[in-house]
Amino acid sequence: MQAVKIKDGIYWVGGIDWDLRNFHGYLTQKGSTYNSYLLMDEKVTLIDNVKYYLFEEQLTRISKIVDPGRIEYIIQNHIEMDHSGSLPDIMKYCPQATILASPKGAEGLPLHFKKSWKLKEVKSGDTINLGKRNLHFVQTPMVHWPDNMVSYCPEERLLFSNDAFGQHIASSERFDDEYPFQVIMQEARKYYANIVLPYSHQVRKALLELKGLELEFICPSHGIIWKNRINDILRAYESWSANETDKKAVIIYGTMWQSTAKIAYTLQSVFEDNGIRTEMKNLQWNHISDIMTDVMTARYICVGSPTLNNNILPDVAAFLTYLKGLAPRGRVGLAFGSYGWGGQSINLIEETLRACGFRMLPSIRFQYVPDKNELDIIGSEFNEHLKINLKEEK
Ligand code: FEO
Repeated sequence: MQAVKIKDGIYWVGGIDWDLRNFHGYLTQKGSTYNSYLLMDEKVTLIDNVKYYLFEEQLTRISKIVDPGRIEYIIQNHIEMDHSGSLPDIMKYCPQATILASPKGAEGLPLHFKKSWKLKEVKSGDTINLGKRNLHFVQTPMVHWPDNMVSYCPEERLLFSNDAFGQHIASSERFDDEYPFQVIMQEARKYYANIVLPYSHQVRKALLELKGLELEFICPSHGIIWKNRINDILRAYESWSANETDKKAVIIYGTMWQSTAKIAYTLQSVFEDNGIRTEMKNLQWNHISDIMTDVMTARYICVGSPTLNNNILPDVAAFLTYLKGLAPRGRVGLAFGSYGWGGQSINLIEETLRACGFRMLPSIRFQYVPDKNELDIIGSEFNEHLKINLKEEK
């Protein structure tokens, strides 16, 4: 187990979580890393920590470079436990170290760990000198918690961005020229959709703050370090945070006896006839966190469920709760479904999509099982509504 050199005197000393498959509801099929960085300067400095159960790994990597007792500064860019879990253990090795965090971070650390460590608040614009290098701090609240900040080393042109620009990928490769680029971007996209999306407004503010910085590396707290593709990830964050959408429909549904599925495929055919690409997402087979990756940039969000016990199918209800929390803005919504007698599911879906602020197309409901003629009627009515919407959007 080794530290990975980024530049002379700067090392990755994080932990690799190969087995992580679920990050509070977000399916992490590729695992993750918690990136911690060591700066060897007159003041030995550690930036961010790892989950508690990867402490031994972090310690081993640090110890390959320096006695951990020599650490004088610990920069805690974010206090969520995936980046602070090992802090109590590392502090046993360097109890005199000063922990630097944003005001919210300094407030939250004692509430998490009940320890009276040496804590120093830093705000946007503050700088500390480490010897040959400086670290400059920029607060980035809500990217992803109120305490978040990033640290920039101007002498090395290196940004420690914490959650921003991260991806959940467990790998031995550390840099973007060592790992398949499309996979990194797909995971960065999924990360944005499932973690960062509700805070796009704050992301735009943070991007403005970071504009003009010379960047040789962006070192996030999860996944691969950006080196050769910095412009690609910055452009992607510009686009995602600006809520740019594609001419695309995501059709998300649950089905009991295939009637709601038949309506879903009828909608798909109509979208396609109108030049709109589609993604079909049967909730029986697709995880809500993967669906959100497509929802993030789709113009049309269609959600269908049959009525079960006067309500929505449980997996559709879970998706709607997740969607509402992540709050994509400015979409066109559609509720649809079949029913036997009550038919409440369609209204409940419509209510939730309206609460998301979506502009709604007229709902589609059908009693029991639609045959080909009835599906044709559903399709032609929907076609009319869609064409009106497309005209209005021009
Ligand atoms: Fe990776 Fe908000 O913690």
